[in-house]
Amino acid sequence: MTELSINSPISDLEVLDFWNKGEKILNVLPAGDSNMNLVLRVQTNEKSVILKQSKPYVRKFPQIPAPIERIDVEYQYLSRINQKESLRPYSPEVLAYYPDQHILITADLGTEGDFSKMYQADFSLSQNHAKSIFQYLNFLHQVDGLGFPENLEMKKLNHEHIFNFPFLEENGFDLDSVQPGLQDLSMAWKRDTQLKSKITELGKRYLSTGKTLLHGDFYPGSWIESQGELKVIDPEFGFMGDAEFDLGVVLAHGDLSGNSEIIQQAFQDHYTLPYSQALLDQYHGVEILRRLIGIAQLPVNFDLEAKKKLLEKGRKLILG
Ligand SMILES: Nc1ncnc2c1ncn2[C@@H]1O[C@H](COP(=O)(O)OP(=O)(O)OP(=O)(O)O)[C@@H](O)[C@H]1O
Ligand SMILES: [Mg+2]
Repeated sequence: MTELSINSPISDLEVLDFWNKGEKILNVLPAGDSNMNLVLRVQTNEKSVILKQSKPYVRKFPQIPAPIERIDVEYQYLSRINQKESLRPYSPEVLAYYPDQHILITADLGTEGDFSKMYQADFSLSQNHAKSIFQYLNFLHQVDGLGFPENLEMKKLNHEHIFNFPFLEENGFDLDSVQPGLQDLSMAWKRDTQLKSKITELGKRYLSTGKTLLHGDFYPGSWIESQGELKVIDPEFGFMGDAEFDLGVVLAHGDLSGNSEIIQQAFQDHYTLPYSQALLDQYHGVEILRRLIGIAQLPVNFDLEAKKKLLEKGRKLILG
């Protein structure tokens, strides 16, 4: 198997039987910010494609093991999306899959970048993009997910950083390194036993199998802009679960990016499937909390007082 890296010589890529006769690889670059996998933009004299290879570890932190089958989840998810007329326009086309080499090649949607810019104070999400987010989920949550991989190992990774680690009183992560005073502030949440038992219950639910095909990591880092339109990538955390999980994550990032009004409005206008408000509130709340006091920090622009307000909101959403 070809173990690729950012520094692989072009000859390592040329051996794939993917290229046309006479096609020449001209350039190989990192495709964008990524932690988990190797993601390359490969430019030839004919086209530009994205090549993604999973490793048995987190690419950026090789000491952290990670399930190599995640690329298969991504392949299966995108294949299903590619087959649906309603969803096809939202995601890159799968061009080739080499399961033995853990390599997936998809169309290149361009270099406009992801929606992490949403967290900047001066950014407002457009109505069109907000609509795309919920139209996408509305279509996705109707897809027949029969036979979709359980993806339990990836879920366990996520579970730890959503439902457990952020709420441990002593987890070795000094929140003052994020913002002075945040460590102290966080203790009231880490010591709230009623809150924590609800979160533990919700975490168990997250780990079980549900009825709806989910993206599983549906936040601004998984949305990219392509010719002005919002597209969805990186479904390696996909699984069959609660629709409220994908929805709650979006609503939380509405709050965390100061775009909650436009997101809530688009949710009301464009998501038409049934859901449980109580369950949605809980997933929404826990995503707010874990993004503020867990390890998966975002480039948010809030002072301590604003974070406290959001933390209060998260707690209320969970406790009901
Ligand atoms: N089909 C595509 N077209 C254009 N750019 C892409 C495409 N796929 C990925 N990218 C770019 O590469 C980046 C990394 O891709 P992706 O998020 O799939 O990798 P990852 O290793 O799973 O990242 P993460 O560590 O965030 O989970 C994206 O943020 C985006 O900028
Ligand atoms: Mg990823």
